[in-house]
Amino acid sequence: MSSVSGEQKKVTTLTFRQKKENHQPITMVTAYDYNAASLVDRAGIDSILVGDSLGMVVLGHETTLPVTMDIMLHHCKAVARGASRALLIADMPFLSYQISISDAVYNAGRFLQEANMDAVKLEGGAERSETIRAIVQTGIPVMGHIGLTPQSVHQLGGFRTQGKTARAALNLLEDALALQAAGCFSIVLESIPDRVASLISSRLEIPTIGIGAGNGCDGQVLVYHDMLGLFDRFKPKFVKRFADLSSIIHQALTDYKNEVESRSFPDAEHSFEMSEEAWQEFIKLVEK
Ligand code: KIV
Repeated sequence: MSSVSGEQKKVTTLTFRQKKENHQPITMVTAYDYNAASLVDRAGIDSILVGDSLGMVVLGHETTLPVTMDIMLHHCKAVARGASRALLIADMPFLSYQISISDAVYNAGRFLQEANMDAVKLEGGAERSETIRAIVQTGIPVMGHIGLTPQSVHQLGGFRTQGKTARAALNLLEDALALQAAGCFSIVLESIPDRVASLISSRLEIPTIGIGAGNGCDGQVLVYHDMLGLFDRFKPKFVKRFADLSSIIHQALTDYKNEVESRSFPDAEHSFEMSEEAWQEFIKLVEK
C-alpha cells in the first residue's frame, strides 16, 4: 500500500485557494465509509466529498433524490473516522437547503457539529446566493455545484451535459460569478464542455473542481465506485476506470465459494490447533 510522501498537513479551504494560485491541480474523490475514506486519505488526495451520489452507487437508487440528512450524516460520520488529512466536504441532500434559509443553515451546521465535516456542498446557481451567504456567515465553508446538477435531474430531462449553447454557457458563467460573490470557496463544474469550464475557471478567483468538464479546471473529482470499476449499471463518458475492482471481487468471491464447496478452505493455515494432551483429556470427558 503506498502512502503519502512528505508532510501530512491537514488540507483546508485555504489550501484550495493556494493551489489555484500556484497552478497546482486539486484532487478530490468521493467516499462514503470508513474504509474508502482511509484509502483515499492515505493516497494523499486533497479532499473527500461525501457525495449524495451514494444514493445511486451505494444504495442502488435511480437518482440522488431519496437521500436524506439522516443517511448523509450516517455516512459522513464513518468517513470522518477514516480520514485525518483530506478536506472533508458533505453534500447537502435534496430538500435540506431548498425550503428555507434557516433550514439550510441548520442542516449545514449539523454536518460540522455532528459528523466532523469541514465544509458543505450544495447544488444550484445564482438562485442559491442568499442561502449560501447565510451559511457562509455562520462560519461554514460552502462549495457550489453547477452544470449537471443531479438533484434537478427531472427538470433537466435526464443526466445530460449542460452549457452547450452560447446562452447556456453564459448562464453558467454568470452563475459561477454569483456563487463566488456569495462566498463559495470553490465550485464543482459537472458535465459541461471543456472550453466553457476553462473559461469559467480563468474568470474566477476561487478554484473550480471539474467532473466531466475537461482539463482546464483547477481540480478534478470522480466518484469512488466509478473510478475503481465498482459500479457498472452505467458509465458516463467522463469516467475513467483506474481499476476494475468488480472483476477482482467477483473472482475472489467465486474462488471462496469453490474452496468452501470443495472443502479446501479453511485449511490448517486458517484453523486453530489444540495440544494432543488437551485433546485426549477432552475425549475422555466426552466419553465418560
Ligand atoms: O454526489 C456527488 O458525488 C457529486 C459529485 C459527482 C461532484 O456531487
